Amino acid sequence: MSVFRDDFLWGGACAANQFEGAWDVDGKGPSIPDLCTNGTHTTPKLLTPTIEPDKFYPSHEAIDFYHHYEEDIALFAEMGFKTFRTSINWTRIFPTGEESEPNEAGLAFYDRVFDCCKKHGIEPLVTISHYELPYALVEKYNGWADRKLVDFYMNYCKAIFARYQGKVKYWLTFNEINAGMMPFGGVLSLGTCKGYRGPAVAMPDDPQTRLQALHHQFIASALAVKYAHDHYPEYKMGNMDCFITSYPYTCDPADILANQQAMRKTNWYCSDVQVRGEYPAYAKRLWEEMGVTIHMEPGDAEILKNGTVDFYTFSYYMSNCITTHDDATKTEGNVAQGFKNPYLKASDWGWQIDPQGLRYSLNEIYDRYRIPVMVVENGLGARDTLEADGTVHDSYRIDYLRAHIEQMAEAVKDGVDLMGYTPWGCIDLVSASTGEMAKRYGFIYVKKYDDGTGDLSRLRKDSFYWYKKVIASNGADL
Ligand code: BG6
Repeated sequence: MSVFRDDFLWGGACAANQFEGAWDVDGKGPSIPDLCTNGTHTTPKLLTPTIEPDKFYPSHEAIDFYHHYEEDIALFAEMGFKTFRTSINWTRIFPTGEESEPNEAGLAFYDRVFDCCKKHGIEPLVTISHYELPYALVEKYNGWADRKLVDFYMNYCKAIFARYQGKVKYWLTFNEINAGMMPFGGVLSLGTCKGYRGPAVAMPDDPQTRLQALHHQFIASALAVKYAHDHYPEYKMGNMDCFITSYPYTCDPADILANQQAMRKTNWYCSDVQVRGEYPAYAKRLWEEMGVTIHMEPGDAEILKNGTVDFYTFSYYMSNCITTHDDATKTEGNVAQGFKNPYLKASDWGWQIDPQGLRYSLNEIYDRYRIPVMVVENGLGARDTLEADGTVHDSYRIDYLRAHIEQMAEAVKDGVDLMGYTPWGCIDLVSASTGEMAKRYGFIYVKKYDDGTGDLSRLRKDSFYWYKKVIASNGADL
């Protein structure tokens, strides 16, 4: 018997820059990922301020969802998706971020996408900003370091809220906003990388700029939520955090405290602001320790108070350990790094697989905030083998997802109000951290490879049929 709500939102998640391609089509301007080259697990992808002719930029074609959306959404519908999480690429609507009028061709594309979803009974869940800042705003303003970006973001929100009324109900203001709490966030999340050329995940860190830029995002998010609530009462507004659960490596009280600090910094700082509407009590000391002073304008406290989100969403891939001891080994991860947990195995990219950590996280989040929760990213990035007959036997992916859904069911039994589940990269797409195609998450295989070749044809993996059965049984048949 299913423990999930009758209206549970089963689906999948993607981001415009990682799957649409058509990076300069129909008036679109460049966003930060369009200036990021490909990399590998061991070679970092580069951010280049201009397009360099000898480099490969995977977002430019990606899997060309822009021209395949009907076929792809039909495949999602075949699996029984109730929802589809995607982002709007800001630069399709405002190519430099500063135009006074939106780009009609860009707006029309998302009309087609959302209409197609509706035709199949799929509810869109839209990320307003998924690492897709107009690059022109980086060059001119150093991204979110400048408070003017709040106005540009609001213009963008107003345009899409008005245009997609009746088509979109669920909105997320910023993808993984807490990436800004990590040095990694300077490039993709905050765009505070004016003139920088180098590894996209390893720009020299400047905590002062980073946390001030994040403050501007909090203000922008709160204003967007308030505006939506005032003008479109049917809209449901969510935050989105990259939740990286961490455990104390030992029972040494120093490790317990170190982990508490890490959890606050990595996982709670942003959502405490976005859900509770004010900075947490521990923020002041954290700023002191980081050598940061946040400049706030009169009225900011009120803006944050009036713009709290309706539901909490997060990505969950892995967990970490935190320790003060020097005998532990460092792990790899998407945005945060910690230490290896001897009880867990890791993916080929070093991300520690921890399904029980999902139950634990869901409980921690719901206990803290008591608003509906949704897992909007989860999955296993893996190398798939395409057989000669066009099949892909991805039992490892099924095992990963099954184990996580089992733990979601446990969390529901624990009392968590869980709204839905959208595994990441439901169709193979470009990796955000490495720019690879080889790191695949999808139920649908796409013939597109790291050297840019491939005919872009779509094939159903074994996990496609498995997930269809999971949705049909509302999560009872795993
Ligand atoms: C999340 C991002 O951090 O993780 C996605 O929101 C990203 O954009 C996903 O793709 C998986 O990470 P990666 O690096 O394997 O693509």
